[in-house]
Amino acid sequence: MKKYYITTPIYYPSDKLHIGHTYCTVATDAIARYKRLIGCDVMFLTGTDEHGQKIEDKAKEAGVTPQEFVDKIVCGPRGVLDLWKLMNISNDRFIRTTDDYHVAAIQKIFKKLYDNGDIYKGKYVGKYCKPCESFWTESQLVDGKCPDCGREVQDAEEEAYFFKLSKYADRIQHLLEDTDFLEPRSRVNEMVNNFIKPGLEDLCVSRTSFTWGVPVDFDPGHVVYVWVDALSNYITALGYCNDKYDDYETFWPADVHIVGKEIVRFHSIIWPAMLMSLGEPLPKKVFGHGWLLLDGGKMSKSKGNVVDPYILAEMFGVDALRFFLMRTFPFGSDGNFSNELLIQTINTDLANDLGNLVSRTTAMVGKYFGGQLPAGCRDWDKPEPFDTELKEMAAGLREKYEAAMESFAPHKALDEVFKVIQRANKYIDENAPWALAKDMEANGKRLAHVMYNLLETTRICAVLLIPFMPDSMDKLFAQIGADDSCRTWDSAGQWGSLSDTAAPTKGENLFPRVDLEKALQALEEAAAAAKKAALPDLELEPQLEEKVDFDTFCKSDFRAVKVKACENVKKSNKLLKFTLDDGTGVDRQILSGIAQFYKPEELVGKTLMAIVNLPPRKMMGQESCGMLISAVHTEKGEERLNLLMLDDKIPAGAKMC
Ligand code: MSP
Repeated sequence: MKKYYITTPIYYPSDKLHIGHTYCTVATDAIARYKRLIGCDVMFLTGTDEHGQKIEDKAKEAGVTPQEFVDKIVCGPRGVLDLWKLMNISNDRFIRTTDDYHVAAIQKIFKKLYDNGDIYKGKYVGKYCKPCESFWTESQLVDGKCPDCGREVQDAEEEAYFFKLSKYADRIQHLLEDTDFLEPRSRVNEMVNNFIKPGLEDLCVSRTSFTWGVPVDFDPGHVVYVWVDALSNYITALGYCNDKYDDYETFWPADVHIVGKEIVRFHSIIWPAMLMSLGEPLPKKVFGHGWLLLDGGKMSKSKGNVVDPYILAEMFGVDALRFFLMRTFPFGSDGNFSNELLIQTINTDLANDLGNLVSRTTAMVGKYFGGQLPAGCRDWDKPEPFDTELKEMAAGLREKYEAAMESFAPHKALDEVFKVIQRANKYIDENAPWALAKDMEANGKRLAHVMYNLLETTRICAVLLIPFMPDSMDKLFAQIGADDSCRTWDSAGQWGSLSDTAAPTKGENLFPRVDLEKALQALEEAAAAAKKAALPDLELEPQLEEKVDFDTFCKSDFRAVKVKACENVKKSNKLLKFTLDDGTGVDRQILSGIAQFYKPEELVGKTLMAIVNLPPRKMMGQESCGMLISAVHTEKGEERLNLLMLDDKIPAGAKMC
């Protein structure tokens, strides 16, 4: 059995994953499932890349340890693991770079590179982009900013180890230019022109200014550069330099690393150079896919425009979302994400084309044949031109699909499948089964043959859709009466695999139509609710730094007051007017902007605290003599206010001190 090793980038858990990350993993999953379908023994790896300064800083901000911080994002509710489970990702292994076996293996790898003479100690002077965890030279900056993300970079100067990347420049250039190691081809020119031709500089591979990383065991104080740590995951997860796994010989070199375009540089220059130094074989291919853009730009938490895959999957279904991502965007290029596009794709391809084909066909077999086709319906001795056309398209589909999948073009593979689905819908109209059914005696055999052709075409398409919508295809097979033997890759290339006595049943609507307007509104509401839920539970005003001397404090006269009457101030939705007993025998009037928090009647009789020597001030034409004291905090982004309520035993006028 052919072995096939495929990987996704391991995710940086500094924030929750968004639809862009989901795109990359769903694509890799579809390719991995396709490879299993054609009979390969697949190893599909994904994981998380958990070290680096950004994580250390974020953990500090959150008041937790870096390990606690990443644990929550990786394993916590709606974290990375939950998302992959929800999205039906079929990875065989999941690596975390904080796993003990990986950490120990990285120390060994670093030492090997050092012992081979490819790592030396020097001093790093340059620029560092913290969010990207990337070092840059002055000449690589764009307008003084990080060339990858456009953010500010920092000066960096520290003692560091360097990897002799320059030594491998010629071999890497040959690898990129003269082999098909890196695809799509356009990415090759980018790498060669931007990085290799200007001269490959040695790479800084250790840091001393923070500690959240794999320690260099032979030089305390240094931690291994996060990209050396991260890239090595592809081999440590197979057991390289560790005893946790034992598949290195079986699966290395990888057949393909699927990566986003901004990290092609690491995978096509630094990674092969590291492997050359280690004397290990190189991966067979790196495929750099494009980005999902939002309003023409990159999604990012700082821009506040990330799209939450949970919301979309819950609203439209996991398979519909998986399908949309693969169907709509050419895999090697950037594409503009929008909710409208998602809904249109669901409605056109899934509800109209595929959903209708299945529901019309199964319903007609039910209505005209009591749910069971008659034996012999597979054959027809005088085929009409449209019979032949449909059969030829369906029988030839697998080859076209395979060519597209083998060249990492899942969008093209789906395009081929949907051409056949559309042809099948046209075939229904050409045959007008409802007209044939009017005279079953004369046309019954022909009608059964038409139904068979439709079911068989649907079946072939469904086999090829398994990698994209595995759960829905299981249901679809059950509906068209396809048993296990005709859900296979072999059977997808074989017209006639479906039994001629197949017994389809009209089941649940697999892909319900989405009401565009309603769905857009629901998405907006869900996004607003998610935004709110992500706000901190409790926010407190920071304490004042400036000191106030005791005499100044004593000048404020705080007293207990009892509420004699309380009412809303006319024409104001904020103000309540209080009549208060302050112990002087003369009623005191205070206006307070707390109407949104209290009903007037619930305050009558309460003992409150007021400052009584503020100068009187007019509000909405009425005088307010003093101020009631409240406790204020923010909860989920909303201000909360609670009046300070005193024990009713305290007499009106008692001084607070
Ligand atoms: N940790 C590194 C990868 C190390 S691999 C040895 C990393 N992590 S990441 O979380 O920032 O990104 C993971 C992947 O998600 C990358 O391939 C990246 O290109 C991809 N995407 C992030 N945003 C994306 C889009 N908006 N669209 C498509 N892919 C995107 O990089």
